Amino acid sequence: MMDKTWKEKVLSTFLKPAKKHKCLKPLMMICAAVALFPYSIFAYLASNGKRFASLIVILMFFTVSSSFSFPVFSEETNETESEEKVQEAMLDNTAGYDSQLAIADEDSILPEDVQILDDDDVLDGYEDAELHGMEDADKYTLDEILEGNIQYSNRVHETKSAGEEVSFDKDDWRLVLINKQHPIPADYTFTLGIIKGSMKCDERIIGDLLAMFQAAKEDGINLVVCSPYRDMSRQEMLFDRKIKKYMAKGMSYMEAYSYASQAVTVPGASEHQIGLAIDIVCDTYKELEEGFADTEAGKWLAEHSCEYGFILRYPRGKEYITGIEFEPWHFRYVGVDAAMAITEQGLCLEEFVEDL
Ligand code: DAL
Ligand code: ZN
Repeated sequence: MMDKTWKEKVLSTFLKPAKKHKCLKPLMMICAAVALFPYSIFAYLASNGKRFASLIVILMFFTVSSSFSFPVFSEETNETESEEKVQEAMLDNTAGYDSQLAIADEDSILPEDVQILDDDDVLDGYEDAELHGMEDADKYTLDEILEGNIQYSNRVHETKSAGEEVSFDKDDWRLVLINKQHPIPADYTFTLGIIKGSMKCDERIIGDLLAMFQAAKEDGINLVVCSPYRDMSRQEMLFDRKIKKYMAKGMSYMEAYSYASQAVTVPGASEHQIGLAIDIVCDTYKELEEGFADTEAGKWLAEHSCEYGFILRYPRGKEYITGIEFEPWHFRYVGVDAAMAITEQGLCLEEFVEDL
């Protein structure tokens, strides 16, 4: 009785408007059918208890088993998507690495990421000395380096008189911004000078670099050039090796790429490749690790490097702008005036050049 009444109610609700407007009849018939369909199924199952119970058991089985399989599905999907993304990016740009920059940039650095990056694989002690030019650094004393560079010893810095306005030119070679978003321009040229042995950098900065080493020595600190100029193949080797290490720890290629690019700049976008960046450590601490910041040498450099035209390029707290973890050993030449201004104002290079 109840069943009939309910069905009739549904039908009359939908068919009433159809009587007034005949054109609505097909639509209303469909609506009535849709409304009655689940009810009919339920009524059928209710009168077939065993089938109803079987259906419930099957539904429960799928729900439980899918709770185990979902993560696997989602991981597979992400990996496939990621691989497709990399392949697309590689195809988009023949330079390869350049096109992958955009993908790496999508990931911001979280505090827990920085801890993962705090590993030993940028410089594995003396094992990788050759990669970083340290085999030379260890061979030469500062006096020997200075001796071989007499031509650079007459460092001249025009000190501005008090109150004199210092202006900066964004086209100044010293202020060229190189990062993942600004790879080295194809037409960028410079001349390499020899610091000592195979250690090289832009010859225009050697005078200031040696003056800085000399001043540190006078303060009782023996700085060591760890990694100066690198060519493309060396940067590629460092970067690829970093990716392999992260993949060996279980990361996907995309994850490894993202983490690697926060510690070693993607090839084609490193300041080391234009000879304006030098990784500097000291005779008592030769690891490229955050702990260098707490050594006397690390503190001395953070305070005095600007007097010689260098800035601590990847400061703590600016990771979200630079895209690179805190590197207390990586110094970038920008010229004395800019270095003083950047250091005094607590900026990173990206912030400084943005306002020029
Ligand atoms: N380690 C710095 C970011 C570089 O590879 O250029
Ligand atoms: Zn560096």
